[in-house]
Amino acid sequence: MFEWSNDYSVQIVGIDAQHRNLFAIGHELHAAMASGHGKAVLAKILDRLVQYTAVHFAHEERLMRLNDYPGLAAHKAEHDSLTTQVLKFQADYASGRAAMTVQLLTFLKDWLEKHIKGSDMRYVPCLSKSEPQFVGRRSQTY
Ligand SMILES: [Fe+2]
Repeated sequence: MFEWSNDYSVQIVGIDAQHRNLFAIGHELHAAMASGHGKAVLAKILDRLVQYTAVHFAHEERLMRLNDYPGLAAHKAEHDSLTTQVLKFQADYASGRAAMTVQLLTFLKDWLEKHIKGSDMRYVPCLSKSEPQFVGRRSQTY
């Protein structure tokens, strides 16, 4: 369900690596659910997903800003909406108002699939030009 493939590549090594990590966290969540892990384990994985998403979105938005990407505002709005949805789910799950269901996994998979193959692919021509100059910046930040 959560397997990264070249179809998801945005040709920017640092961003591909972050996308792979998001897939890996999704896979972990799926595997933990399938093996019947309890709420505490699932909540921890979900927390990691939320934190890593914030790091990843901030990274993409920084690169877009540095490259004067014209689609930044629309892209950021999409990030904000995904963040709001996942934070709401996290809060509902923590308080017992929501259960971890296949629907959540489907939401995550859809998000990765549609956002990466749709919106992320659109910044590729603009951001990939400047990839080499960000190598140092990336290793300093992460
Ligand atoms: Fe994005």
